[in-house]
Amino acid sequence: MMRHNRNLMGATSLLAGTAFASLLLSGCGTGANTGTSTEAPKTKVTAAERDSGMKVKSGANYNEQGELRRPQDYREWVFVGAPVTPNDLNDGKAAFPEFHNVYIDPASYAAYKQTGKFADGTVILKELVSVGSKRMDSGNGYFQGEFVSLEAMVKDSRRFDDEPGGWAFFRFGEAPDYATVGTRMKTESCNACHSGANEDYVFTHTYPVLRAAKHAATAK
Ligand code: HEC
Repeated sequence: MMRHNRNLMGATSLLAGTAFASLLLSGCGTGANTGTSTEAPKTKVTAAERDSGMKVKSGANYNEQGELRRPQDYREWVFVGAPVTPNDLNDGKAAFPEFHNVYIDPASYAAYKQTGKFADGTVILKELVSVGSKRMDSGNGYFQGEFVSLEAMVKDSRRFDDEPGGWAFFRFGEAPDYATVGTRMKTESCNACHSGANEDYVFTHTYPVLRAAKHAATAK
């Protein structure tokens, strides 16, 4: 922390012991100190981590009750794709007529790109976004409307050792007031369906960004 925050530390030493100081210090690693940082964030997975399947630093963050906190900055994560199953193509009654904007936390993406596997700690978020306009200057199509809801799947084979593949599923409710912690879903309501996915409970074949990352890993 000292390394990253020389200027900030200098400023806060004047205020040491105050609540304000701890507020400033809690900015470490959140991007608040971008201007003073001299090191890139650690995203490279070491050989030991890769070989042992050790946990990487991920987007998963739990409160004292062990509940999953909603990540604050997920729209800055790696965006892997936006499948859409519109009503028009599903007899007017699609199960999920929205776009599914899918993100993975950057450290887990880096691990996947190195190993071709989802490490313990991986968080994949799916934010549903309504179909808005169907007409733009570029032509007819499906264009994104408003945020609708937010869901997550988190892999942790120790914490969720009772779940298939170590994946637990969560919902954060409806936009715009997403819950601060995720509601844990029953295995049969989400994971049972995901057990049919092409790779480790994730439908990776629908995300070219993940396909390319996998290719990078296996081409080594
Ligand atoms: C009917 C089967 C089915 C059910 C039930 C289901 N999913 Fe999915 N889910 C999919 C499919 C298929 C995709 C990928 C294509 C898409 O999004 O349309 C997906 C994508 C996802 C993704 C993005 C990562 C991935 O695997 O592609 C997340 C996160 C996700 N679902 C969470 C959930 C949660 C949370 C629940 C329970 C509330 C749930 N899913 C229930 C079929 C299902």
